[in-house]
Amino acid sequence: MTVTGAEIEKRAAAEAAARLVEDGMAVGLGTGSTVAFLLPALAARGLSGIRCVATSVATEEQARGLGIAVEDFDSLTRLDIAIDGTDQVAPDGWLIKGGGGAHLREKVVAAAADRFVVIGDSSKPVDALRGPVPVEIFGFGAASTLARLGDDVRPREVPRSPDGGLIADYRGPIGDPAELAAQLEADPGVAAHGLFPPTLVHDLLIATGDAVSHTKPKG
Ligand code: A5P
Repeated sequence: MTVTGAEIEKRAAAEAAARLVEDGMAVGLGTGSTVAFLLPALAARGLSGIRCVATSVATEEQARGLGIAVEDFDSLTRLDIAIDGTDQVAPDGWLIKGGGGAHLREKVVAAAADRFVVIGDSSKPVDALRGPVPVEIFGFGAASTLARLGDDVRPREVPRSPDGGLIADYRGPIGDPAELAAQLEADPGVAAHGLFPPTLVHDLLIATGDAVSHTKPKG
C-alpha cells in the first residue's frame, strides 16, 4: 500500500498530539482521517486510567477496536484534553470543521476540554477561510429553519446526525467569521455551525513532511 505525503503528515501531527496525553486524563476524541491516526498512537502509549469520550460512532468503534475504553458523555463533566482534526485553519486561528458532519459533538467536546488540540497536515492552513461552512439544524422544525436561513444554506445528501440533526452547508460569503458565526447562532433552529473561534483552540499541531509546528492560538 502506498503511503501519501498527506498521510505521513497526519500521522506525524497525530503522534505529536498523542504524546500530550498523560495517565489518568479524561480525553475527548475527535473525528476524521487525522484522528484515525491518533487512535493507534494513543493506544500504543499504553497509558493507564484514561477515560475517553468520542465525537462520532466511527471514532468510538475504531477506539474500542484498539482497546481504548470509550464512555458516554454523561459520566464526565469536564475533559483534560480533546484532540481533533480540522478542514481549514486561517492565519488568525479561526477553523472550519464539520466536513464529516460531526461538528456539533466536536464543538461540545472542545468546549468541555481544558486543552483543545487541533491537528492537521500541511493542506489545512489557508490564507482565508473558504466555504462551505457546515451547519447542523435541529431535526424539529428543520424545514422551517431551512426556509428562514434562505438559499445560502443547503441540506447535504447525508443521513441525520446521531442527535437527529439535519446536516447542511452554508454556501454564502464568509467575510468576518465572527459575524457569520453570530448570524448563524442567532437562529434558534441552528444547533451548531462549523466555525470554531481561536479562543477555543489551545494548541495547533500542523505537520509539513515529518516536522510538526506547534502554535498556541489562544495564547
Ligand atoms: C468532522 O466532522 C470534521 O470536523 C473533521 O474533524 C475535519 O473534517 C477534519 O477531517 P480530516 O482529519 O479527515 O481532514
